[in-house]
Amino acid sequence: MLDWTSYIGKVFTGDCMTLMAAMPDGCVDAVITDASFPSRADVGGGPGRFAGWMCVMPRITNLALVKWSVPGLVEIAGAVPVGWKWRHTLVWHKPMTHGRIWASSLYPHWEPVVILGINGKRNGARNASDFLSCVPCMKGMAEDVGHPTQMPERVARWLIEDWTQPSDLILDPFLGSGTLAVVAERLGRRWIGCEISPEYAEMATKRILRAREQLALPIEPQPAPGIFKHPTLDLDTEGVPG
Ligand SMILES: C[S@@+](CC[C@H](N)C(=O)[O-])C[C@H]1O[C@@H](n2cnc3c(N)ncnc32)[C@H](O)[C@@H]1O
Repeated sequence: MLDWTSYIGKVFTGDCMTLMAAMPDGCVDAVITDASFPSRADVGGGPGRFAGWMCVMPRITNLALVKWSVPGLVEIAGAVPVGWKWRHTLVWHKPMTHGRIWASSLYPHWEPVVILGINGKRNGARNASDFLSCVPCMKGMAEDVGHPTQMPERVARWLIEDWTQPSDLILDPFLGSGTLAVVAERLGRRWIGCEISPEYAEMATKRILRAREQLALPIEPQPAPGIFKHPTLDLDTEGVPG
């Protein structure tokens, strides 16, 4: 039998169904995830796969935050009969994608995050915000590590901070490049991540180790608060009029 506890703070390389099957009832405080779209068979998606995942999750947690595509909302609605209650819908607005036409239809410049809970069980947020505007992770950005559908760290921070407490255990069954794990560690949450592709699992592990090294570094001394000096204006040589 798989010892799931040995994967706390580590990446499980394999199918999330295998990991979740080994987890006992209610062992996870929240699932926060970004599943592969049904259209992305290249990264493990495919029609109908979502339904299988959603049937397993209510056994191990009371709370799931699922970031998915706008067309995927229909499949999320299909998860309600298996025990989930659709509690809230959050909007991640992606400013720089506005108006793109893709596959002859208007490409949505937002993605939904659906908050699913279990009837009769209270869990979740106080002071949560249901809207975040944040550019998607694109090639050449400092945080880009080369995953084709990498979630920005700011989106992960928004979800983790609003919906979990320090030391909570979070599961991301579709870890990809490890964004959820990296941000969870910085925010003092425990996590388990699962990734089916060995290539992405290795990418995530390296990224998490780098983040741990950075966390261990002493914080750079900040300049003492004082007069603001404009980077392009040297007040000593150019002087101040008057
Ligand atoms: C949308 S991506 C997640 C991206 C991630 N949030 C990030 O920031 O990099 C979904 C990931 O799920 C993985 N995946 C697909 N099916 C899976 C399965 N059955 N079990 C585990 N991982 C799976 C894919 O390989 C892909 O990397």
